Amino acid sequence: MVRFSRAPRWSGTGGLDVLHPRDAPFQESVVGHGPAFGDVMKAKGRDAHLVAEAVGPGRSADAALWMVDPVEPSGVAWFRYRQMVQSPPACFGGTAMAMLKVERLHPDFGARVTGVDLREPLSDAAREEILAAIDAYSFLCFPNQPFDDERQLALTRRIGEPEPSHVALGQEGRIEYFGTIGNVQPDGTALGNSHKKTVFLTGNNMWHSDASFKKTPAFVSIMCAYEVPAEDGLTQFVSTRAAYDRLPEGHKAELDPLIVIHDYVYSRSKVAPDAVSPSLAASLPPVRHPLVRSNPRSGARSLFIGSHARSIEGWSDADSRALLDDLVEGATEEEHIYSHSWQPSDLVIWDNRCLLHRGTGYDADRYRRYMRQTRVSGDGPTLSE
Ligand SMILES: [Fe+2]
Repeated sequence: MVRFSRAPRWSGTGGLDVLHPRDAPFQESVVGHGPAFGDVMKAKGRDAHLVAEAVGPGRSADAALWMVDPVEPSGVAWFRYRQMVQSPPACFGGTAMAMLKVERLHPDFGARVTGVDLREPLSDAAREEILAAIDAYSFLCFPNQPFDDERQLALTRRIGEPEPSHVALGQEGRIEYFGTIGNVQPDGTALGNSHKKTVFLTGNNMWHSDASFKKTPAFVSIMCAYEVPAEDGLTQFVSTRAAYDRLPEGHKAELDPLIVIHDYVYSRSKVAPDAVSPSLAASLPPVRHPLVRSNPRSGARSLFIGSHARSIEGWSDADSRALLDDLVEGATEEEHIYSHSWQPSDLVIWDNRCLLHRGTGYDADRYRRYMRQTRVSGDGPTLSE
């Protein structure tokens, strides 16, 4: 039996499928009432936090709820209501997201989302549901979204505060919200493998969280694909929420209070000794972040690690390196990776708070790659989350 801890917003009767990523579907019966956003549900004797809701293909018959369940290894469970006998409430109908079709991409995280045109202005309800889907899935791929920069910036602003490029700001004092991922230049020509800019971008081939070297790091990154190589050029992702959940409880307790120093100059020194100009280095001093972050809406915990993570505060370099490397290794084992093979007109949103990603590289002498990236800043310094 599933019970809800708050007053119902709508009522219905029917069955409830509870689908955990690693388990076969099982059923629970629901009597009476449905939950509201933010509710805590008792499911199988545990608390589960409702983080998203949307109507499935059947609309009047099906509604889907995404729950964060701290007991489940992946942290996310998917509940699907069936056979609602009364009309869905207003929030379930009439919004762009209520029409969404969501397909899981990996047991730990990730969804392919269709049924919405992101070039259209987002309603408040649609925006809220996208934010909830980010909390639930961490990675959202919206295929077949032919974009341009103007629309991408409008979407970025609708989700939150756009993050200025640290390179343009640190080197030239200029606000620029876009980064080009790839070798195609503004004049349409393409750079080869040996060009300094191509070499610099190979820093993205290390597992990282975008802008974790900033005091307020990126919340999400938004990437639009225009030209993609015929081979390679994948981006791989792993969930550090799932990685944290897999750790033994005692190990989690040791990690929870630790502070990590993230340092851009440190990470880029692995690409080339002169990769960072003095003015850029001066604009990006090392910053402190908790090793374990919590999602402010669901409470789900995740490891905040990656290539910019230099050391653990108060630890020796050797001990720091051993722990940080061990955590990345555990998070990025083959079975935990989702590899995204880009198609032109893919629009992808990923949550930098709880994912690591890396590029797999491609032959820039043979192929063109043009992708545009914007980011949304986090709400503030991580230490006050
Ligand atoms: Fe990145």
